[in-house]
Amino acid sequence: MRHLLTLKDLTTAEIEEILSIGSELKQDFKRGIRSQLYPNSVMGMIFQKQSLRTRVSFETAMTHLGGHAIYLSGDVDFGKREPIRDFARVMSEMVDMVMIRAKRHEDVVEFAEYASVPVINGLTDYCHPCQALADIMTLRELIGDTTGKKFAWVGDANNVALSLAFICGKLGMKFSMATPKTYQFNDELLQEIRDNAPNAEFEVTEDPYEAVSDSVAVYTDVWVSMGQEAEKDQRERDFARYQVNADLMKHCPNAYFMHCLPARRGFEVTEDVIDGPQSAIIPEAGNRLHAEKGAIVWLFRQIQDMN
Ligand code: CP
Ligand code: NVA
Repeated sequence: MRHLLTLKDLTTAEIEEILSIGSELKQDFKRGIRSQLYPNSVMGMIFQKQSLRTRVSFETAMTHLGGHAIYLSGDVDFGKREPIRDFARVMSEMVDMVMIRAKRHEDVVEFAEYASVPVINGLTDYCHPCQALADIMTLRELIGDTTGKKFAWVGDANNVALSLAFICGKLGMKFSMATPKTYQFNDELLQEIRDNAPNAEFEVTEDPYEAVSDSVAVYTDVWVSMGQEAEKDQRERDFARYQVNADLMKHCPNAYFMHCLPARRGFEVTEDVIDGPQSAIIPEAGNRLHAEKGAIVWLFRQIQDMN
């Protein structure tokens, strides 16, 4: 059974296939066609953390495809009310696919081990694969071919950064990160990035100006991710030099500004940049719907191919 837990599990060809299905369905959607490819199919969506984009995009995607999505949050008390292996096996009796946003990546991996339906990671502490798929779809719409282009990350080496590092590596882009020393990926994660995209050009620096120079995209995310609220004051001090502002963007006049959202204006990004002419944040958020449709259809096709 194929799942979508992290982009490192997918080959370059598989990522391209997901993006291509998503883009085709987006073209249909723009022409007013909502192909009901999977009538009456049901996705269970488990949320252990807050969400706007992930919930709305997956629920909308399932509806457009002719199916339905069930939103499960605090009441199911994922990981606490009952063992994950029971949860996974019970849901597999009833639904066709599961999407999980969880605190601990290991819990999603365990769920997938026991599930007999495909499982999609809708964000964990480790990575956020659907976000990175939508981000690359967006960038390609804006600049065309992304091969060999430099993608800059400014800020925390977090879940979103890891998925972008994997996808850029697998798609032949350069990935340049500016992150304070003590917040950079640890050796194990650096090795994982190198192992999964051995030919990737991956750079780490502490200098945001160096990272963004010659880039086609400058990406940042919150300095305090969900679950890190206790570190808020310390993080805001440590990341102050990593704000994406007009001065930084002047050093990469051809770059688009990207952010997974939600954003904290005045912290990781200034209002003039996020709401300015270089910002791609709204089409980027919109592409969550289309990229996820690509992932859903691709996963359903993997089951058809098994049978
Ligand atoms: N970018 C993203 O995943 O947004 P939500 O947390 O609102 O789902
Ligand atoms: N890094 C953020 C992403 C939110 C979509 C978090 O994990 O909270």
